[in-house]
Amino acid sequence: MIEFKNVTKAFGNMVAVNSVTFNVDKPQMIGVIGRSGAGKSTFLRLFNRLTPATSGQIFVEGTDVLSLKGNAKRRWQKDCAMIFQQFNLVPRLDVVTNVMLGRLNQHGTLRSMFKIFSQQDIDDALAALDRLGLAERALQRVETLSGGQQQRVAIARGLMQQPKIILADEPIASLDPLSAEVVMGSLREIHDRDGITVMCNLHTLDTARTYCDRVIGMAEGRVVFDGPADALTPEAAREIYGAEEGLNEAVTSTSISISGAPRRARSNPSAAGQGAQVAEANAATA
Ligand SMILES: Nc1ncnc2c1ncn2[C@@H]1O[C@H](COP(=O)(O)OP(=O)(O)OP(=O)(O)O)[C@@H](O)[C@H]1O
Ligand SMILES: [Mg+2]
Repeated sequence: MIEFKNVTKAFGNMVAVNSVTFNVDKPQMIGVIGRSGAGKSTFLRLFNRLTPATSGQIFVEGTDVLSLKGNAKRRWQKDCAMIFQQFNLVPRLDVVTNVMLGRLNQHGTLRSMFKIFSQQDIDDALAALDRLGLAERALQRVETLSGGQQQRVAIARGLMQQPKIILADEPIASLDPLSAEVVMGSLREIHDRDGITVMCNLHTLDTARTYCDRVIGMAEGRVVFDGPADALTPEAAREIYGAEEGLNEAVTSTSISISGAPRRARSNPSAAGQGAQVAEANAATA
C-alpha cells in the first residue's frame, strides 16, 4: 500500500510537482505520462529520495519515506530500485560486476569500498542476468552491449536490490522500438511474476496502454488523469498533452507494437519479450 499525500516540489518559484495525491492499494504496473516538463522525473526522484520534496508525505506500508534519514533512508533506496534512461552503468566493467553493484549498499563500508562480493552475490547476479536473457553476456564489458541490452543489465542490477518497488524514468526513450519492446516486456514480467509495483515514466501513450494497468497523466506538476489504460480516451489525452484540438496520437507514438499485437504484451508479456528477443537476435545477425 502506497499513499501519496499532497506531495509538492518547488524549485524557487517553479512548482515542478504540485500537491500530488493518490493511492496504490495493490501491486500495479503504472505508467506516468505527460509533456516534457510536466514533472514526471522530479516526481520519481523525490519518491526515491534523490531529490528532497518541499512538502507532503509518501506512506509506504505505513511509513512516511520522505521523513527517513541515515540508514533508514538508505534502506528505502534499496527497497526502491531506480532505472534511468541513460542506464547509469559503469561502461568499462563487465556485465556481472555491474549487476552485483546493486548489492553494494546492503554490505558494510569496507566490503563496498573493495567491491568484495560473496558467492551468493555472484549466483544471484547470474540468475538475474539469466532472467533478463543475458546469461551469456556476463563477462562482456558493458560498453560493448547494445542500448537495449544495457538497459536489461540495469534492470538486473535493480533486481539485485531485491526491491519492493521499481521506478523507471523513461527506460526506453533512448532505444529503438524492438529493444524498447524487450525492455518493457521485462519490466512487465517482473511486475507479473514478483508481484511488485512498477512505476514507469513514459513519453508515449501507446506504450502506456500496452504495458500498464493504470495510467497517471501529469500536466504542469499536477495529476490530471488517473485511471485504467483503457479509459485513456482522446479527450483524456488532450487534457494531459494540452493539445487544443485534434490531438494527433502519432506525436506521442513510438510505433512500439512492432509485433503487430500490442495487447498480447499485457496478457503474456514474457512471450512478447521472447519474441522480440528472437527478432532482436535475427536483426543483429542480418
Ligand atoms: N534541478 C532543477 N532545478 C530547477 N528546475 C528544475 C530542476 N529539475 C527540474 N526542474 C524543472 O521542473 C520542471 C519539471 O521537470 P521534470 O524534469 O520533472 O519534467 P519531465 O516531465 O520529467 O520532463 P521530460 O519529459 O522532458 O523528462 C521543469 O520545468 C524543469 O525545468
Ligand atoms: Mg523526465
